[in-house]
Amino acid sequence: MAGNLEYMSSESFENLSYEDRTFAPTAEFAANANAKSDIYELAKRDPVAFWEAQANNLHWDKKWDQVIDWQLPFAKWFIGGKINASYNCLDKHVLEGRGSRVAFHFEGEPGDTRTITYGQLLTQVKKTTNALIELGVKQGDRIAIYMPMIPEAVIAMLACARLGAMHSVVFGGFSADSLLARIQDADATLVITADGGYRKGAPFALKPAVDEALKGKTKVKNVLVVKRTGQPTEFDSGRDIWWHEIVDRQSDQHEAQFFDSEQGLFILYTSGTTAKPKGIYHTTGGYLTQASFTHRIVFDLKPESDIYWCTADVGWITGHSYVVYGPLINGATQVIYEGTPDTPSKSRMFEIIQKYKVTILYTAPTLIRTWMKWGDEFPNSCNLSSLRVLGSVGEPINPEAWMWYREVIGSNRCPIVDTWWQTETGAIMISPLPGVTATKPGSAMKPLPGISAEVVDDEAKAVGNGRGGYLVLTHPWPSMMRGIWGEPERYKETYWSRFNGLYFAGDGAKLDKDGAIWLLGRVDDVMNVSGHRISTTEVESALVSHEAIAEAAVVGANDEMTGQGIVAFVILRGGIESASGEQLVKQLRDHVAKEIGPIAKPRQIMVVAELPKTRSGKIMRRLLRDVAENRAVGDSTTLADPNVMKLISEGLNSAKSED
Ligand code: WT7
Repeated sequence: MAGNLEYMSSESFENLSYEDRTFAPTAEFAANANAKSDIYELAKRDPVAFWEAQANNLHWDKKWDQVIDWQLPFAKWFIGGKINASYNCLDKHVLEGRGSRVAFHFEGEPGDTRTITYGQLLTQVKKTTNALIELGVKQGDRIAIYMPMIPEAVIAMLACARLGAMHSVVFGGFSADSLLARIQDADATLVITADGGYRKGAPFALKPAVDEALKGKTKVKNVLVVKRTGQPTEFDSGRDIWWHEIVDRQSDQHEAQFFDSEQGLFILYTSGTTAKPKGIYHTTGGYLTQASFTHRIVFDLKPESDIYWCTADVGWITGHSYVVYGPLINGATQVIYEGTPDTPSKSRMFEIIQKYKVTILYTAPTLIRTWMKWGDEFPNSCNLSSLRVLGSVGEPINPEAWMWYREVIGSNRCPIVDTWWQTETGAIMISPLPGVTATKPGSAMKPLPGISAEVVDDEAKAVGNGRGGYLVLTHPWPSMMRGIWGEPERYKETYWSRFNGLYFAGDGAKLDKDGAIWLLGRVDDVMNVSGHRISTTEVESALVSHEAIAEAAVVGANDEMTGQGIVAFVILRGGIESASGEQLVKQLRDHVAKEIGPIAKPRQIMVVAELPKTRSGKIMRRLLRDVAENRAVGDSTTLADPNVMKLISEGLNSAKSED
């Protein structure tokens, strides 16, 4: 499963001329930075004591008896401690006199706004918690949340956490089928959704997808529906309840109870190398410790003066750790935005930065490259001088985009933090620390204090500087996943079997001559499209579920804008005319969108007569990737039928996508 390093394209190594471009922290930034230069040394001397000190920044009803219990590959942190996530995000601030501080400046896509203080947010969460209690939600239950990026999404998550119920947020762009699979896998008993939201200047509907999903067999008893757009919405009176009808009439009193540190906090599904998404399972104490600590030092958050904007949707781990838990625990004032970056104009996001005087911006390389393509006039038309720290996450950031981010968005003034982590790691693992770590354009630099990562070869031996290999994590960390929901064997197999005793992240990486880490992308069959993980197998099985398709092979090909683009090779079933080409390709793309969601639509679909297979029947995706990336096809001597690649290459331009 842990593919081969051969796959990593040589272009990645061309970046290394940037090895020598180092940006050291300015003296002024360093003097005021949250992170001090001795922090790495401090953590190294005693990592357990270091994490214990970070946990001490949270409110615990009862302190832990033991910091860590590590039964490889199962970890527990802060054992015996009692904690409530919602209390740490909200009650603590209100009780300590910060109730009137703004928690969220919400900006809807149509231009509607809401300002919500910590005090108001706490009241809303308490009422929502009481509504959940009325609906029979109990500690340990699983609640599916399928929402647009509106404050109620955050409120719903915190209300679940307050009760010790686990949320499973499903990104609003996923299809009814994907939603159903996630509801079933977690045995969710309640779905929280909205009539719809706004995107690209128009309302879109969400509730119909929930209705469609719930035609399947589930344990869902109720659907709680936020009225966001007011569009006509079908209602099942025995099952569906409007949010405002049940939440608004609740008491605003609710005393949080404290749960075990290892109480489940959430499940979040992510793609792996098989078609079935993995329910990544996180617990409370360790997760909150690392999410809040990293948010404070990586972004240098000054809660009294900063305006922080993470552009991620709560449907992804970035939204969990760096919109909800990390920033709220730290008492940050945030901006959240519902819509797309080019509605109504390509300046929208820069206008938001100017309007709210955003100081910290955390976004994804795919968006940075999109901005770059649109042109400097859009950022240049706005006053971005409030910005002081810039972050990047989701995929390797190419040095050119990094430099553009620094020069055009940050006016050469703001440190850039390229943060490497995963749904599984729960929080940032590899990143420079502003004010402490010098940066290089395109490098995530080094593991955070308290984290140990290495780059190893096939034999698990550290490769040393100047060489590439597999990225592994060598010691447990507080926010690590506690498993795959319901699948302990798959957890062991996926992450811990490739290298004995080491966590294998699935990424390739290179250490430069100074030991800085450069991420090189996935080495397994997982694609990274606009910072979102999609497995090749997942798309393949969606394709073969279409009546016209006998066999499919999917690869991720380099894509200037999205990092990787999905390219599919399909064999038609007997009797299906390949002449129906263009129309069929459109049908197939729509079919994939229906099965998984629009993000999984192949960029390109090629109808082929054969797929390149080894004598043992394994599809040689490496060769297909060569074709998809317009390269000369590599060594194909192990192919059962050497002629196949010639035929495929010839048919290369037979089918291209339209959008
Ligand atoms: C995969 C994890 C972590 C939140 C967003 C994605 C890639 C993530 C970086 C980065 C290079 C990165 C990796 C990783 N990735 N951040 N800064 N540089 N690659 O979360 O969906 O769990 O995906 O995203 O390939 O394994 P995710």
